[in-house]
Formats: sequence, structure tokens, C-alpha cells
Amino acid sequence: MSQSQATRPIDLAVIVGSLRAGSFNRMLANALIGLAPAGVSGRIVEIRDLPLYDPDLETAAPDAWTRFRAAIAPADAVLFVTPEYNRSVPAGVKNAIDVGSRPYGKSVWSGKPAAIVSSSPGAISGFGANHHLRQSLVFLDMPTLQQPEAYIAHVDKLLGQDGAITNDATRTFLGNVMTAFATFIDRNRRG
Ligand code: FNR
Repeated sequence: MSQSQATRPIDLAVIVGSLRAGSFNRMLANALIGLAPAGVSGRIVEIRDLPLYDPDLETAAPDAWTRFRAAIAPADAVLFVTPEYNRSVPAGVKNAIDVGSRPYGKSVWSGKPAAIVSSSPGAISGFGANHHLRQSLVFLDMPTLQQPEAYIAHVDKLLGQDGAITNDATRTFLGNVMTAFATFIDRNRRG
């Protein structure tokens, strides 16, 4: 998709599911931002500092929650790039989802088109995390890209030390994912 095909530029919030230095998923997220077609500006919104969601704190919401909500609210769409922890979503991602979903009636996720890229050094490629995350996005009213599905197995073999994708087929595939996502966002975004 070229800039001219998009009705207006796309502000894409990117959530990285891993907190560790050297995360393959963070490298992948940066690569995906770079592979996005013209007109799509991706930015990683950090989740590391979000206190665990506790409704009792809403009377004086932690600054990190307020900053996070303010960072997601103006985005046109959200891309999740995540590993799988114990066949599900890492706790940090789930916490970020919960923080963004409240106070009740003020979810910052509502209506935003989403896509999920899961990856793992293993062969199952985060399938469990990818689909558990989809369950939450249904409830949050986030239309989520269905095809192409993006499960990246053996991710440790696909990235150079600088984070660049070293495998041509993977780079082409992920470029196609971002192009399909941009088209999907254009068709599904509100406002
Ligand atoms: C893992 N890992 C893992 N991998 C997988 O394919 N399925 C799984 O269920 C799990 N479970 C799991 C739990 C916990 C607590 C950790 C720390 C790790 C391995 C995981 O895919 C691997 O560490 C990745 O490198 C994590 O992604 P980042 O940090 O490189 O982005």
C-alpha cells in the first residue's frame, strides 16, 4: 500500500511483550516498524513500568497508567509483538491490556484495529499466546487481522545481532503482513 492509497496517515502503537534486554520480539517489532508501508508510523509504547492493575488505585491513578493510556488513546491501531510464556501471554502484556481497558467505559482499546505477531525460538512460535491474546481483543472490540497469521518460529535464527532480519523469505513475509495490516486498518479504523 502506498501513501496515496491510505486516506490519511496511520499512527500505529506497538506493544512489545518481552521486557528483557536482547529480546527477539523487540528486534522483530523494530523490524516490523521498518517494513511498514508508506503512511504508517509505528512507535513502541512501553509497558515495563505499569504497576499491576488494581481497581482501588483508580481514585489516584498511577502516573504510569495515565501516561500509557494517553499514549494509546490517539493511535489509529495497535500491533502486538509478543513471545509466549507458559503457553499464554506474558503477564506484562495482560497487565497493559487491563490498564488500558479501565476505568470502565473509558477503554483506550475500543474499536482500534489490531494485529498480533508472536515469535519463539521454539517451533510452536507462540501460537498459544497469539490466540489467548485474540480472546481479549474480541472482548475489547478490537477488529484483529486474521490473514496472514504471523507465527514466527525459530526467531533466534532469523535475526542478526543488530536486529536486522537475515532471512529473505521472513523479511518478505513480514512486509506482506504489514501491508495487509495497513489495508485492514484503513478499512476498519473509526473516526
Ligand atoms: C518461555 N519461553 C517459551 N517459549 C515458547 O515457545 N512457549 C512457551 O510457553 C514458553 N514459556 C516461557 C515461559 C517463561 C517464563 C520464559 C521466560 C520463557 C521461551 C521464550 O519463547 C524465549 O525466552 C523467548 O526468547 C522470549 O522472547 P524474547 O524475550 O526473546 O522477546
